[in-house]
Amino acid sequence: MANTILVGAQWGDEGKGKIIDVLTERADVVVRYAGGNNAGHTVYLGKKKYVLHLIPSGILRRNKLCVIGNGVVIDPLGLVSEITGLQKMGIKVGRNFVVSETAHVVFPYHRELDAQREVLKGKNKIGTTKRGIGPAYGDKVARVGLRMGDLIDPARLEARLSLRIKESNSVLKALGGQPVSFKQVLADYNKAGKFLKPFVENTVVLLHKAMRRGEDILFEGAQGTFLDIDHGTYPFVTSSNTTAGGACTGSGVPPHRMDRVVGVLKAYTTRVGEGPLPTENQEISDLLHGMGREFGATTGRARRCGWFDSVATRHATMVNGIDDLAVTNLDGLDTVATIKVCVAYRHGKKRYDYMPNDAAVLAACEPVYAEFEGWLTPTHKAKTWKQLPPKARAYLKAIAELTGAKLFIASVGPARDQTIFV
Ligand code: GDP
Ligand code: IMO
Ligand code: MG
Repeated sequence: MANTILVGAQWGDEGKGKIIDVLTERADVVVRYAGGNNAGHTVYLGKKKYVLHLIPSGILRRNKLCVIGNGVVIDPLGLVSEITGLQKMGIKVGRNFVVSETAHVVFPYHRELDAQREVLKGKNKIGTTKRGIGPAYGDKVARVGLRMGDLIDPARLEARLSLRIKESNSVLKALGGQPVSFKQVLADYNKAGKFLKPFVENTVVLLHKAMRRGEDILFEGAQGTFLDIDHGTYPFVTSSNTTAGGACTGSGVPPHRMDRVVGVLKAYTTRVGEGPLPTENQEISDLLHGMGREFGATTGRARRCGWFDSVATRHATMVNGIDDLAVTNLDGLDTVATIKVCVAYRHGKKRYDYMPNDAAVLAACEPVYAEFEGWLTPTHKAKTWKQLPPKARAYLKAIAELTGAKLFIASVGPARDQTIFV
């Protein structure tokens, strides 16, 4: 399979967890390289549902090494409960799991700052997951953050945390937030550090050793292209590079060792949180929510839904260098008589074939739609390309062509065996 980067080609929640689980069969190592526990990746094994937030989705397969790379921000208390939760469900998390010693740590003051900044923004809020992601990456870039290597060294943790809490509490007080207790945080984080210490390693060296042994690495993207701090709909984005370039910086594996990029996209569009979503549509939102679908895996919020947006996925193909497409949730459109696809945006007299950079311009764009006849047949039992209704095949071919990459997988349900290799 070689080294493969898997990215979300829309606004997150494209079904990356499911596709990672399918592709992991042919990989040796799975690496998370960006984001934190703002992510929620869903995998079904039979009827059992697993939602992974920090641990790579590859953990559900035996004999795969799972790595949290340096580009991730880690809430240690969240990670401990994710590990023990999986272990209680009978999943092995031991020597098959490694955490980078240079990944940054999320503290309670990051979560509190995240919440206070949202309150201050009022109606302009981002709609974050309130997991402290933005403030934790902020500290990393400002060179004042603590890393996993600091967490597992009690003396260093105490000294550095004491300084950070002083500054953070004064900011929190000024914003009207709740200061955090140094004593409590130190006790909780020392306990988590002790638990996590056996997992913490130099993951850059570890990954290069794996490559020297000829092992194949799968890079598990979190979030999606338009939540990327540089390439997304700023400021309605997350705080990391979620796009393919992030896989290199967030793991220490250089660009020339990357062989392939797989883009995951839904057969329609969803977004959770605030910010522009040009093809948003009430009818399709009601339809999907009525089916009990499209509620957030991390926060439970109802996702906003809309028609497939090929301007966005074309742009994602360009920015990530997507070779292959995995289209998920095709079955969500089984009952729609006329399916719309956005082929371009119009803004006054200007036509856009790629995403405009300015979120205000994007919010004012009108989608230009093409229409496709729906197949009006259940697809969830299809196992092969030929078993899909001809109109569903035509739809998939059209969205792949508009997106500008090769159709690789069509997914017709959450389970492993509801995956068609095209
Ligand atoms: P991720 O964050 O990209 O991993 O995606 P999420 O897990 O947050 O959300 C995707 C949702 O779609 C999950 O509930 C998956 O179980 C589900 N899913 C993925 N592929 C399919 C599919 O082809 N059909 C259906 N019905 N559900 C799917
Ligand atoms: P996965 O990996 C969908 C969104 C939040 C908010 C914005 C910023 O499951 O696809 P943050 O807490 O990161 O500061 O929030 O980004 N967001 C996601 N939306 N899927 C995700 O992850 C997301 N992670 C963050 O809703 O709009
Ligand atoms: Mg998700």
